Parts: sequence; structure tokens; C-alpha cells
Amino acid sequence: MTRLFINVDHVATIREARKTLEPDPVIAAQIAERAGADGITIHLREDRRHIQDHDLERIQAVIQTKLNLEMAPVEEMVQIALKSRPYQVSLVPEKRQEITTEGGLDVCSQEEHLKKIRDRLQPAGILFSLFVDPDSRQVEAAKRVGADSIEINTGPYSELQNGNELEVELGKIRDAVTTARRLGLKVFAGHGLNNENVKAIARIPEIEELNIGHNIVARAIYCGMEQAVRDMICAINGSSEPA
Ligand code: PXP
Repeated sequence: MTRLFINVDHVATIREARKTLEPDPVIAAQIAERAGADGITIHLREDRRHIQDHDLERIQAVIQTKLNLEMAPVEEMVQIALKSRPYQVSLVPEKRQEITTEGGLDVCSQEEHLKKIRDRLQPAGILFSLFVDPDSRQVEAAKRVGADSIEINTGPYSELQNGNELEVELGKIRDAVTTARRLGLKVFAGHGLNNENVKAIARIPEIEELNIGHNIVARAIYCGMEQAVRDMICAINGSSEPA
């Protein structure tokens, strides 16, 4: 069964709109776990636009599942990761002006830099994952860097509704999955997924884990966090019945 990690960043986005205490991503993470999430993902951005340092500490203190920390490959974040020791670090590219992560990491152009980060995180017992576009060159570079896993960027796929372009993008994802598995990398996926477009991704059996945030937090406004997570689990498992 495909594991589901829930990204609670956008609960913090709403809180930060008022710089107040609610809604609390820690409580959202606990509800997500109760609804069946396999782990919690947070992105501690350099500009701290949503998740704050205290959220990382508090989430880590209370969750019963696993914490996946998304972060930019920069010294400040490496130090934070070494101090907080999450289950997994996922390196993502970060641009100050972007609305959300705009693409995968360019692993090919910074292999030595990423290796140095891997050499500090893995010995601390932290799994080392790289967020990459579905591009075999990037997947091969991730292997050379010594990543434990890759997370394939489903952002471009999620922007397509149907038709030929969608099939082409799905084909790229399948090819990247095949390359990664041949190289012995674990394969995850995420970005832009919702209850509908997740189905084709969840049907790729080699994809072990999905990271989903925005759609779940958005739907939580209508139906509650617990139901939104359960609905996503149903979509992933191909079931129409509530979990
Ligand atoms: N994976 C990565 C690497 C991300 O940066 C994000 C967004 O923070 C996600 C998955 C989740 O994307 P979404 O919020 O669109 O579900």
C-alpha cells in the first residue's frame, strides 16, 4: 500500500496570515495521524512564511508517526536538521519569490555540494531524499550523490487535465520510476496532487510514498481535516468507501 505523508504547511499559512496561534499545524498533524496518515511533512522555508522553527520542535515532540523535513540545501537548514534529527530530510530547491516549489532540484549541477550534505545527514541516522523532476539524468545524479530515495515532482502532471500531454507527463514519471528502481533508489512522489489526479500516480506500484498538502488542507476547510485525509486514503487505495 502506498504510504501517505500529510504536508501541514498551509495550516501554518493561515495562522501566519494573522500572526496568531490558530490554526495550529501541530493539532492538524495529530488529526492527520488519527485519520491514518503514515507520516507528517513540513517545509521549513528560509523565509519562514508558514512553518516556524517552534512548529518543527512541537510537531516532532508529539507525532507518533514519522517526520519528513523538506528544506533547501543550505547550511542553516543542515544545522537545524542535525539538531532536530527528523526521520527523513527531503532537499528541495527554494526561491524567495516563488508561490510554491517550482520544480525539482537540479542535482546534476551540484553533485559535490549535495554529497557533502549527505555525508553529514546520513551518519546522523537521517534518511536523505531528493525532490527531482521526472528526468532520468537527475535520477542518475541522485544515485551518484548517494540519496536513499527520490521524490518525483508531480507538479507539471497535476496541472494537466487530460489528453495527450497528460499521457506524455505520466510516461515521463513512469520512466523516472523505472530508472530509479533499476538503480536501487526508493521512489516517492508529490506536488499538486488531489483526490482525482492521485489515482494514476497511486497505480504505479513502485511509488512507495506520497506527500500531499494543499488539496487536503483546502478540503479540510469544507469537511474537516480527518475526513479530508480519509478521503485521500480512499482515493489512493482505489476505494469509494470511507476508511
Ligand atoms: N513535495 C514537495 C517537495 C513539496 O515542496 C510540496 C509542497 O510543499 C509537496 C510535496 C506537497 O505539495 P502540495 O501542497 O501541492 O500537495
